[in-house]
Amino acid sequence: MIEKEKIEEIKRQTDIVGLVSQYIQLKKVGKNYRALCPFHLEKTPSFYVNSEKGIFYCFGCKKGGNAINFLMEYEKMDFPTAVKLLAKNLGIEIETTKGLKYKEIYEANEIACQFYALCLSKNIGKRGRNYLAKRNIDIEKLQDFQLGYAPLSGGLVTYARQNGVSKQALFTAGLISQSTSSRSLEAFRDRLIFPILNLSGRIIGFGGRSIDDQNRPKYLNSPETPIFKKGDILYGLYQAKKAIRTKNEAILVEGYFDLLSLFQQGIDNLCAPLGTSLTEKQAMLISRFAKKVNILFDGDLSGMKAALRAIGLLINVQVDVFVTSLPEDTDPDRFINESGADVLKEAIKSATDFFHFYKKMSKPETVEQEVVLIKDLIQIIGNIHDPIRFDRYLKYASHVFDIPVETIKKAMRRTDVTDKPVARAKTTAEEWLIAMILNLREHFAQIKSILVPEDFSEPGVRRLYKQLLMGEDIDIDDALASADQNLRQKVYSIIMRGESVSKEALLESIKRHKSSIEETRIRTKISEARTKGDDAALTKYQKEHKALKQKMLHIKKDSVALDREL
Ligand code: GTP
Ligand code: MN
Repeated sequence: MIEKEKIEEIKRQTDIVGLVSQYIQLKKVGKNYRALCPFHLEKTPSFYVNSEKGIFYCFGCKKGGNAINFLMEYEKMDFPTAVKLLAKNLGIEIETTKGLKYKEIYEANEIACQFYALCLSKNIGKRGRNYLAKRNIDIEKLQDFQLGYAPLSGGLVTYARQNGVSKQALFTAGLISQSTSSRSLEAFRDRLIFPILNLSGRIIGFGGRSIDDQNRPKYLNSPETPIFKKGDILYGLYQAKKAIRTKNEAILVEGYFDLLSLFQQGIDNLCAPLGTSLTEKQAMLISRFAKKVNILFDGDLSGMKAALRAIGLLINVQVDVFVTSLPEDTDPDRFINESGADVLKEAIKSATDFFHFYKKMSKPETVEQEVVLIKDLIQIIGNIHDPIRFDRYLKYASHVFDIPVETIKKAMRRTDVTDKPVARAKTTAEEWLIAMILNLREHFAQIKSILVPEDFSEPGVRRLYKQLLMGEDIDIDDALASADQNLRQKVYSIIMRGESVSKEALLESIKRHKSSIEETRIRTKISEARTKGDDAALTKYQKEHKALKQKMLHIKKDSVALDREL
């Protein structure tokens, strides 16, 4: 466990705007910073960061939290890892922690990677080296990729044991078939190994290509584990992200060998999905690094179809999409080996825009096919935000298909896939109050003296307030961490909207709230007395009620005056 004080210090010192800016582009709006949300797909930015309070919140998907939560969500880290990373950035030393959820999977992968790389370099890895040579791969130029070889005879379990990694850990990482039996099968045998890295450079899984064609499947990936989700990452992105960012362009290829063959010849702004078609998440991931994507898939029919699918997804995340077409019987790996890097570079440079590619590939033969093509393209164009680019493609489509712009626009409105309207649940008075209390936590001592948990009638709010009372000083995140999700989201959203009141106005609101709770209590008593026919009690409570009403009038007058001052 990391000490609480350390975590507090780290949170205090971390500049959340600086942190988030490392991942997405923030724009200052008023007191906050805003961006397109990295956690869900959207067209208009609803992701906000508040530097002063150290929190982020998305009004669309309702994700919110502090710098640690951001890293956990974005980098798929567990809590201690996120804290450690922030600590490292700040130069703060922290003790190592025990019992990390993902730690053992990372360690198992790390050790396995070492083992496979070691095998590739030794006698036992000769088959692997020969295969790489046959495919024209130069390991020396690809050190960053930590390629390896998994021998047919295994050996991972023994190596892991010698390095303090248990069979259980190997099993959890999907590297062996069983953790208990003495004869657990290793997942990768006689395969070339491609370690798959996340954006922090940690190994989250492996791809393995069989060397013997009889050994099926041709490619095998680690199974999905808590740290490895195939659709969430791109092979090579860690090694290429710098180049992709600098060039502001990513070249998307289909396979491991495509990527490595091009990379070793100096085309380094590459990434590849892991054998599945591109996902929304992967598209979003690319868009964080480059404004332009060049699709360089296999020249066959399935490559073309995959490209057509990828176009829509990439346009949705607002990158400019180009496609490099290759001859039908080849893929980038083969092409670069047969025709050379220069020819491929030329082809990449003269890639066509998505519109032309789409049109060229579809070759409609009937009117109906033409209608489908036009509708598909219109839908894609409708998702372009950049007004000038949108206008150009619109006019172009109008010209090419000989359809008036107005007609196209009409069709777009019908197929428009705008963001779903976000139903905003109403905030109750108590939710608002607790948010304001968190907002003005420097005055908590005074608030404590007048407000008791019983003053809140909603159980969630009452629990939250009780928790605040237990701590010395309050921390928004700590308090909200254990609050129920709905309350948590509402409070973040109120704070992020920048709703704020002066201390005086808050104290008045509290008084008013206390009175209204009190009024409800007295009213109940009055109706009880009425039912019972207890006249004495009835008179007593009616008097109390009158007095309270009098008092409330006062508060209202006061707060009206206060509101005007604000
Ligand atoms: P080579 O034959 O080694 O050149 O592979 P390639 O990259 O040309 O393979 P292909 O075009 O068939 O597939 C592209 C990518 O899809 C590969 O790099 C893999 O990531 C994935 N893939 C291909 N075959 C399989 C398979 O049998 N299983 C899995 N899980 N993935 C595969
Ligand atoms: Mn291929």
